[in-house]
Order: sequence, then C-alpha cells, then structure tokens
Amino acid sequence: MQPTMEDLKQLVQPNRTHRRIYTDPDIFDLEMERIFGRAWIYMGHESQIPNSGDFLTLNLAKKPVIVARDGKGNIHVMHNQCTHRGAKLEGKACGKARIFRCCYHGWTFKTDGTLMGVPDKKGYDGTDFDIHDPALSLKQIRCESYRGFIFATLDDTMVDLEAYLGDAKTSIDNMIDRSPDGELEIAGGVLRYRHNCNWKFFVDNLNDTMHPMVTHKSVGDACAAYIKDLPNPDDYSREADIINPFGSSYEFFDEMGVSVGPYGHAFTGGQMSIHSEYRDIPDYMDAMHKAYGEKKTQQILSINRHNTIYYPSLTIKGAIQSIRIVRPISVDETEIETLTFRLKGAPDEMLQRTLLYSRLINSPSSMVGSDDLEAYVRLQEGLQSGGTDWVDMRRYLGREQHPDGNMTRAIGTSDISLRNQYAAWLDFMTHEDKKKAA
Ligand SMILES: [Fe+2]
Repeated sequence: MQPTMEDLKQLVQPNRTHRRIYTDPDIFDLEMERIFGRAWIYMGHESQIPNSGDFLTLNLAKKPVIVARDGKGNIHVMHNQCTHRGAKLEGKACGKARIFRCCYHGWTFKTDGTLMGVPDKKGYDGTDFDIHDPALSLKQIRCESYRGFIFATLDDTMVDLEAYLGDAKTSIDNMIDRSPDGELEIAGGVLRYRHNCNWKFFVDNLNDTMHPMVTHKSVGDACAAYIKDLPNPDDYSREADIINPFGSSYEFFDEMGVSVGPYGHAFTGGQMSIHSEYRDIPDYMDAMHKAYGEKKTQQILSINRHNTIYYPSLTIKGAIQSIRIVRPISVDETEIETLTFRLKGAPDEMLQRTLLYSRLINSPSSMVGSDDLEAYVRLQEGLQSGGTDWVDMRRYLGREQHPDGNMTRAIGTSDISLRNQYAAWLDFMTHEDKKKAA
C-alpha cells in the first residue's frame, strides 16, 4: 500500500529510520518518482562523449534516456523513446551515432533529438502530421554540467546544478586541480556489479566511519602483519599503501571529520583521510610543481577527502580519482558502477594507482568492498524480520557540530551524515505536501 505523507514523516525521525523504507517496494517506487525523479542525477562525464554523435544510454528514475553530443558539440539528455509508437530507440549502452533510427518502423532522429525522417512519408499526406512539430522530436530533459560532470533532473523547478551541489562541489574542484593540465578524462574501463540490497545501504556506508574497524578488521590485520614482517618496514607494496588505512582506529576516523550540506550531500575527511599517507609518485610531483609551483601544489594535495556523496546518485573519491554511481534497480537490488579518471598531464603511474585502488577496494573480488557487501545483504535480510523496526542514527546527535560555509562539520564517527541524508530523503519525499501548504 502506498504510504501517505503522514506515514513518511513517521518513518524518518531525527534519530532513527524505520525498516520499511529499505524493504517496501511501494516506497521504492515513490523514491524513484520523488527523489530520482526530482534531484540532479549524475549522467556521466563529458570525456565519455568527447565528439559529435557520441552517446550513452542509461535509466533516470526508471526512464530510459540518451545522453548525446550533437553536431554542434552541445550535450543533450533526452528520453530514449521513439515518438512514433513509443519504442525504446537506442539499444546500445554507448557508442557513436550519425543518427538514431528506431528498429521498428525506421523513424530517424538527429543527435540533438530532432525528428529527421519517416519512411514513405506520403502516407501522412492529408493528416495533421508535421515533421517539424517539436512534439515529434525526442523529449528533452533538463541537463547541466559542472566542470565536465553531467547531471539531469526531471524537475524544471529544481534549483540550478551549482546551487544544488553547494560547497560540496569543492570535492570535484579538488579532483580536477590534481591534474597538472587541470582536466580529467575517464579511463580504464568500468566495474559494474549488482548488489542484492537497497540502494540506501550503499550510500549510508560511504561516510560510515564506525564500521572499518569491525567489517574490515581481517584485511587490516593481515596488511599490518605483512608490513611488520618485512625486512625493511618502509619497503611495502602499493597494495599495502592502499589497504593499510582500512585498519585505522576509531580515533583516526574521529579526527578525519565529516561535513554535511543541503540536499543530503556530505564528505568525510579534510586535511587527512585514508588517502593522505600514500607515498608520493616523484614524476607526478614534478609535473604538479611544474604546472602550479610548490606552494599551490602543496595546497591542492593537502585536501584529502575520503568519500563525497552528491546525494543520491554520485559518490566520488577526489584523492584517488574514482567515482561510484548508484543505479537503483528495485527495492532490494542496486547496480553500482565504478569509473576511474586519468589526470591529464600526470604520469601513467597515477592512473595505475587509481585502477589498483579500484580493483582492491571496489571490484566484486575486492578485499574491502566485498566485506561491505556482506553487511548490506545482511541488513536487507535482517530488516525483513521485524525483530527490530528501527535503524539507529543517534551517534553524536546534537554535539560537536560547527558551521563551515553552507555545510556543517562534525567529529568523524558522528552519524550526522546519515541524519542529514534522511532529512533530505524526507524533504524530497514530502516535497509535494510542503508545496501545497506554501
Ligand atoms: Fe567499508
């Protein structure tokens, strides 16, 4: 049964959420309509469609869409649906098109969505069919890019993208600044896999700093033992560089800090994070010094954030140049895509480190992400039982919180990121109600 506005307000409270929001298919359908159908949702990076005719297809709030670069170089997000009989138009996940042609009756569309041709047009003579009728072009969806990151929203009244991202956009800025040429480029393929859990468990986990010392203890301990047994303790592998911080203490994660902002965005880390103690790559440092000088380089690399969440669909790791995209499939199934960036002007070793991180931490066979997945699946199974109805998020409630621009900063192991996300969740889910009241 579809929940009422009153039900929704009961399900998310300042200190806890109800299990139903993770297990009820009706709530999932409402989330697609009211959150993924309204928020700025990440579509892809401009470097994935660098030339005219390049396109990607994906789902936005369950609707198939095409992200395409037209003949003039402009980017469009459009409904992936032929305007003749309504069939899904483009079947490939990505590619290069001169035109989009429907596989059923052959209507053709330009890469900007304009209807171009229909077979045997004389059959429409004497009807009100007009090939120039804008309603026969692919339906456009509002889209904007922030420094190469393309987002779309199905709500024309939503604030513009930059205002939506707020001060959290500085995590994107820092990732770009880490390129000696000031530019990013998607490289190294994509890791895509299904998680048998609700999409929110993945998003909740990214700034959950109370779990590594439990969930990732085995890999953290194994890594520490490996380093201890080395004849020269400084001579450890790049793999250990990456894995070792997952064995950090509660104090370490407390010190890392967490910042939360409007619309559910958040990031952990600041000057330090699990990425801040990686050993330098000398050629990269040289390239950065050449591009920016020593002082500015130091300034750029001193920003070391862990995960930034652009709620609800994009999560990034600026310091290691990877992103993970959240694609909800159903109430208990979520597709996660991991993509990696090349920092233009940086030596190849930087991309190799990013890819190593991705394989070790994010891939289906990873040593860390698979621990998290086990927890998500147990949450999904556990919360079906009804033994306990509520999910707690009280840690550091009302304490240790400081304003920072349009964000709020708190101690790292605070549940503030969860509380902020669920406040945004409730805002999205009850937006219509508030609009009526206003
Ligand atoms: Fe984890």
